[in-house]
This record gives sequence, C-alpha cells and structure tokens, in this order.
Amino acid sequence: MGRVLFLLSWLLPQVWGNSEVLGRSFLFRCLQISSFANSSWWRTDGLAWLGELQTHRWSNASDKIDSVKPWAQGTFSSQQCDQLQYIFRGYRNSFTRDVQEFAKMLSLEYPIELQLSAGCEVYPGNVSEKFFHIAYQGDYILSFHGTAWEPAPQAPPRLDSVIKVLNQDQGTRETVQWLLSDICPQLVNGILETGKSELEKQDGSHTSVGLIILAVLTCLVSLFMFILALIWIRKRRSYEDIL
Ligand SMILES: *[C@@H]1O[C@H](CO)[C@@H](O)[C@H](O)[C@H]1NC(C)=O
Ligand SMILES: *[C@@H]1O[C@H](CO)[C@@H](O)[C@H](O)[C@H]1NC(C)=O
Ligand SMILES: *[C@@H]1O[C@H](CO)[C@@H](O)[C@H](O)[C@H]1NC(C)=O
Repeated sequence: MGRVLFLLSWLLPQVWGNSEVLGRSFLFRCLQISSFANSSWWRTDGLAWLGELQTHRWSNASDKIDSVKPWAQGTFSSQQCDQLQYIFRGYRNSFTRDVQEFAKMLSLEYPIELQLSAGCEVYPGNVSEKFFHIAYQGDYILSFHGTAWEPAPQAPPRLDSVIKVLNQDQGTRETVQWLLSDICPQLVNGILETGKSELEKQDGSHTSVGLIILAVLTCLVSLFMFILALIWIRKRRSYEDIL
C-alpha cells in the first residue's frame, strides 16, 4: 500500500505538470548537412525542429526555406521572413565558397562532409542559451562561442589558420550573434504563440498517457482495498463462528 501511494504521489505532479506548455524550456535546433564530392559537386540541405516537431526544411535545390508547419514563421512579418531568406541565401553561397577555399588552402582531400548544428534553448522568463557547433568528417571541430569562433578541444592544430580567417570577418560574426541571440528566441516565442494549440496537443498526449497510468493505478488500489476488505470480513465471520 505504501508503495502504491508513493507511486501515486510521484505520478500526480507528472500528470498535472505536463499540461503547462509555457512553463518549460523549448529547444530550437537547425541541422545543416553539406557534402562536397569534389571541387565542382556539392550540396547543402537543412532541417529545423522545435523540440521534437519538425518546423522547417531547406533543400539544396530550393532558393527558399520551407515551413513544414503553417505556424512555423512565428510572429515574423513576411517582410522580416524575406529579409531572413535573403541573409540565409547569402550565407549558403559564402559557406560553399569558404569551404572550397579552405580545402585548397589546407589541401584537404575530397569528399568533404560537414555538419552544423545551431540554435537556441529558451527557458521560462525569457532566458535563452545559444549554440553553434561544426563537425568535419563526423568529428566536432569548431564552435561559435560568445562573439567568436573557437576550436573544439580535440581539433587539429592546422584549424587555427581557418579560425583566424573566420574571426577576421567581423560582419559575419555580428550576423551569427544576432541570429542566435535575437532572432532565434524571437522565433521560438513567436511559434509558442502561433503554434500553441498543436504544441499543447503534443503535451496533451503525454497527459493522456499519464491519465491512463493513473486510471490503471487507481483501479489496482481499489482492487487491493476490496481484497483486503474481503479478507477482513471472512476473518470476522470465522471469529464469529468460533465464538
Ligand atoms: C564530382 O563528383 C560528382 C558526383 O560524385 C561526379 O559525378 C563528377 O564526375 C565529379 N567531377 C569531377 C571533376 O571529378
Ligand atoms: C546545389 O545547389 C547549387 C546552387 O543552386 C547548385 O549549383 C548545385 O549544383 C546543387 N548541387 C546538386 C548536387 O544538385
Ligand atoms: C522576451 O524577449 C523578446 C526579445 O527576445 C521580447 O521581444 C519580448 O517582449 C520578451 N517577452 C517578455 C514576456 O518579456
């Protein structure tokens, strides 16, 4: 009985705590995969998620970032979206050019595989944390930290020349900082407004799983008490028989 009560006291806050959409943190993350087969063949594709829901995709064949959900542009105006599209198109072109130049500079061998993971985690109370990590041939080599690019702890020393070049470009550093510190949390806060009902539905599914477990436990407790009561009645009867 003590165990069942303990389980219930653990489960109840889980069930009710879950129904509060805005009381928890939200992770928005973009993944970019760039493959360079040789100096003349490459492709870059992107995906973005809010938590476990995919929100955006960007195919190499497309000039436009597509919203997977109708509410994925958050509260940004179409003018702001066009401005962001323009920035990201410029980014994709210069990214390709830079990788090809670095490949020449460091005599890197093709094929080259790069994976980028960037985004922000927004906590209740408007606090957010940002991240931007880059992996080369599957190994984490570089990140954006504060206002500048930094090598990963295990990165090869020859990466230092790349980081030096990257950090000379103050314009790009300021843009990355702006995208991660301002645009990313604004997008997340906007999506929490425009996509609220779907996000709540997602949370709702956790709640209903919790409620089913709760219902099953309640049944078990009732059954347990019923059996106890039966045993008690039987014992009483047998005492009465003896007396
Ligand atoms: C580059 O790679 C692509 C895709 O693998 C291939 O079709 C093409 O022939 C290659 N080009 C050169 C110049 O090697
Ligand atoms: C990827 O897109 C770029 C720019 O539009 C294009 O030049 C390139 O050929 C594309 N790569 C592939 C593999 O389709
Ligand atoms: C949260 O921060 C954003 C800027 O990122 C701001 O526009 C918004 O008003 C803030 N919201 C609250 C509730 O403070």
